[in-house]
Amino acid sequence: RPPLLLLSRRLYPTAARRLPQAIIIGVRKCGTRALLEMLYLHPMVQKAAGEVHFFDRDENYNRGLEWYRMKMPHSYQGQITIEKSPSYFVTPEVPERIRAMNASVKLILIVREPVTRAISDYTQLRTHAATASTVTPSSSSQRAFEQLALMSNGSINEQYRPLAISIYHNYVHRWLEVFPREQILVVNGDLLIEDPVPQLQKIEKFLGLESRIGTHNFYFNETKGFYCLRNETSDRCLRESKGRRHPRVDPFVVSKLRRYFGEHNQKFYELIGEDLGWPE
Ligand code: A3P
Repeated sequence: RPPLLLLSRRLYPTAARRLPQAIIIGVRKCGTRALLEMLYLHPMVQKAAGEVHFFDRDENYNRGLEWYRMKMPHSYQGQITIEKSPSYFVTPEVPERIRAMNASVKLILIVREPVTRAISDYTQLRTHAATASTVTPSSSSQRAFEQLALMSNGSINEQYRPLAISIYHNYVHRWLEVFPREQILVVNGDLLIEDPVPQLQKIEKFLGLESRIGTHNFYFNETKGFYCLRNETSDRCLRESKGRRHPRVDPFVVSKLRRYFGEHNQKFYELIGEDLGWPE
C-alpha cells in the first residue's frame, strides 16, 4: 500500500477527542456561556457543545470517562479542550470527581455581584416558567422578585434558590479543600461584560496560551447592550436568552440584599484571597 496515509499522519498531527484540560465550573448566570464563546475565539481552544453535566449527574457519571471523552470535540495536540457546566459549582460531589479525572485540571470560576446574579437567575426562571405555563398555567411563575426574596415579615428568604446560589463561600470552600488555590481562576463577570479583553488576557495567561484575543475580536452592539464577537469570517452576538432585560427591583430591597450579602462576600473574599469590591 502506498504509505501516503501514514506519511500524512506523521506530517499532520491527528485530531482526537480529548478530556478537557480546563473546565468552567460556574456560577450560573455569571456569563459562563459568554466566557466559553469568547475563549473559543482563540485558535488553540476547542469547546464542548452544550453543557455536558458529566460530574454532577449520576446517570452521566456512571457511564464513565470514555462516555465523557466522546462528548468532547476533536482537537489537535497542544489545543486546549474546555467544557462548561455551571451546576458543577454547587454540586457537592463534583470537586472530588474532577480531581479523580485529572488532579491538575485548570478550573475557571466566573462570578458576578451576588444581587445582580440573583436577579438574573430570577429573570431566567420567570421566563422559563412563563413558557411552561402556556401548557400548565401557574400563578407563582409571575410573582415579583421582591415577594420571593423577602418573607412576609420582611426578613430575607435565605432558602430562595437564586439568593442561596449567590452565597458563594458556601460552595467555594469545598473546591478549595480539593484543589490548590492557584488551580482555580476567579473571573469577575461584571468586568467581562464591561470590557472583555483584559479579563480574557488573564485567562489566556492562566491557561498557558499565547495572547491572541484582542479588541479586534469585539464590537459593542448598541441594540443588545453587550459586546458581540468577531472573527475573520463573521460577527455574532450571543442568543437572546443571554443579556435579558431585568425587571426593576425596588431599590429598598436591593440595598437590603446588598447589606445582607456584605458579610457573605467578605467570607468569599477571605477564602479566595481577593477582594472583588462589591457594593454593600
Ligand atoms: P443576563 O441575561 O441576566 O443579563 P450564563 O451564560 O452563565 O447563563 O450567564 C448569562 C449572563 O451572561 C447574562 O445575564 C449576561 O449578563 C452575561 N453576559 C456576559 N457577557 C455577555 C455578552 N457579551 N453578551 C450577552 N450576555 C453576556
